[in-house]
Order: sequence, then C-alpha cells, then structure tokens
Amino acid sequence: MVSISANNFKLHRHPSLFHNCKNGPHLFSLHFRSSKIRATISVASDTESATQTKDTSEVDLFACAVCYEPLIRKGPAGFNLPAIYRSGFKCKNCKKTYSSKNIYLDLTVTAGAKDYSESRPVRTELFRSPLVSFLYERGWRQSFDRSGFPGPDEEFKMAQEYFKVAEGGVLVDVSCGSGLFSRKFAQSGAYSRVIALDFSENMLRQCYDFIKSDDSILNSNLALVRADVSRLPFSSASVDAVHAGAALHCWSSPSNAIAEINRVLRSGGVFVGTTFLRYTASTPAILRPLRQQLLQNYNYLTEEEIEDLCTSCGLINYTSKVQQSFIMFSAQKP
Ligand SMILES: C[S@@+](CC[C@H](N)C(=O)[O-])C[C@H]1O[C@@H](n2cnc3c(N)ncnc32)[C@H](O)[C@@H]1O
Repeated sequence: MVSISANNFKLHRHPSLFHNCKNGPHLFSLHFRSSKIRATISVASDTESATQTKDTSEVDLFACAVCYEPLIRKGPAGFNLPAIYRSGFKCKNCKKTYSSKNIYLDLTVTAGAKDYSESRPVRTELFRSPLVSFLYERGWRQSFDRSGFPGPDEEFKMAQEYFKVAEGGVLVDVSCGSGLFSRKFAQSGAYSRVIALDFSENMLRQCYDFIKSDDSILNSNLALVRADVSRLPFSSASVDAVHAGAALHCWSSPSNAIAEINRVLRSGGVFVGTTFLRYTASTPAILRPLRQQLLQNYNYLTEEEIEDLCTSCGLINYTSKVQQSFIMFSAQKP
C-alpha cells in the first residue's frame, strides 16, 4: 500500500482496488438532479485511467456527520470505488476530515478517533464480527426464507417497483450488510449513484470482496460508506431513494433512524424497508408475550407500530406487504 499526503488530506492507495481493470471507452450519463442539470460525459471505463484524471476539488453529495454541512472532496473525479478511495473529504464548516480506510469511506462521527470506542447494542455488535459478516451471504441470509422472506431476487423486484419514481436519482442502501442488494441496485443501472452504507467495518469488507470479482460493479457508480443510520452523512433533501433490507430490527433506535431517513430524502423520495414482524394477525394471542420475550434483543415491531413510526416521522403514502413474519413497507417524503 502506498500512502501520500496532499492538501491536508492523507490518502492511501490500496493495490487490490486496481488489479481488476479492463480497457475500452465507455459512455454513461450523470444526472445532477439537485441542480436540474443533465450532462452526458464520455469517460474511459478503465478504472486506472478514470482515476488518473486531473484531481478536482468540489462540493460532494456527502455531508459531515458532525454538523451536516456539505463536504469538499479533493481527488480524482468520478463516483466509483477507486476514485472515492483516493479522495479526501473535509467539512466546509467544522473542517473535520474524512478519508477511506480499508476500502470504505468512513463517515462516522468517530472517524479519525484514535482512542475512543463505544459499545453498541448486541444487535449492532453481532454484525461487526468477521465471522458473522463472512457467513451472512453464505447461509445466514438464506435462513430468513423460513420466516416468509421471499428471497433476494423477489425482494429486489418488489423494491424496484416502489423505486420507479426515483429512477435516475441517488439511492442509499442503508444497513447494506455485505451488499446483497447494493450490488443489484448498482448493476440495474437505474440510479445515478448508489451508496452501500453500513456501520459494520467487516460487512463493508465482505461487500468489497464480492464486488472486486465483478468488473461491472467495481467500475459502476457505487460507493462503500461506513455510517450510523441514526446519523446519515448526507445533506437534507439530497437523496431520492433509501432501501433498508432486513435492518430495522437491528437498529438501536428505529425512530431516530427513520427521522434521519426522512431528513435526507428529497420531496417525493421513497423509503423501502423490510424486517421481521414481532407477530402477525395469525399469531395466537397466547404466544405473543412469549415471542416478545424471546426476541427482546431486537427491535421487532408490529405492522401497526411500523406504520405509526413512519407516519410520526413525517412520511406519507405508507403501504406494506406481509408474508408470515416478513414485511416490506414503503413510505414517501411529502
Ligand atoms: C441483517 S443485516 C441486513 C443486511 C442486508 N441489508 C440484507 O437485506 O440482507 C443488518 C445490518 O444492519 C447493520 N446495522 C446495525 N446497526 C446499524 C446502524 N446503527 N447503522 C447502520 N447499520 C447498522 C448491521 O451491521 C447489518 O449489516
């Protein structure tokens, strides 16, 4: 690994990001929705040459996790893993700096902290372990089918239906885990930018391990970001679609998380989530307290609670589909 310091940013270059490149020109469109400018740019699809373009300094999509002011990005232009990896970010307002570490961009409040660490609830810590991160797409996720999850392909299709109005915009896959859905969103070509975001460093490493073997995703408009769903590193009203697969029950505070999701969505933006229900209409009343007791380490909610939560956070047009304990719900920013 080569480290260079430039313009107050420490940049690290990780060789494994660049080993899988193909040559050949490639044309794609970037849709800058916020400024209502549409531009078609011809770039080299070769990752190495794409990241060798002249360094730029620009206001980025990302915002500071401390003060929510936009970040200034310095580094190669482009929204893909290698370009973001080689960029440094600095808050316009509080001057906090952020950089990529182990292939993902760390945009947590504690990014750069040397000594501080805080323990999180078990439902968050569990997924930070290397073993669980490794096993997640190798059997763990498949076991959700027994609770009524239709499986990744069907869940993706269902989510894409809800996201039709957000096509061409920015999609954030919060709590992406090892990137099961982020990869599908990136490959679909339906979004101008896809951000795979998780709090677990090891899930993000797994995510990169899956991506690096597929050039079409490696060179796509995808970023890997470490962040807390209760402190999303985006400006208010800057995101078109938020997906949160099998995640709400793992969050320390679903209410803070959904309030944050509402904050970052632009008007008309769509939130789609899936989770396990605490119980459904068909669960016998006598078993309900028992399920609650068994599942107390997680925030398993009821259908009514999820709708109430989305509505109380200001989202509208709530809809849901339920199959056994599986629920997919969607709601929109007014
Ligand atoms: C069950 S996995 C879901 C992975 C994937 N979205 C899916 O559909 O299979 C839950 C994920 O939530 C993440 N998570 C837990 N607490 C979080 C937080 N506070 N902020 C962001 N992600 C969090 C975990 O790291 C884990 O990767």
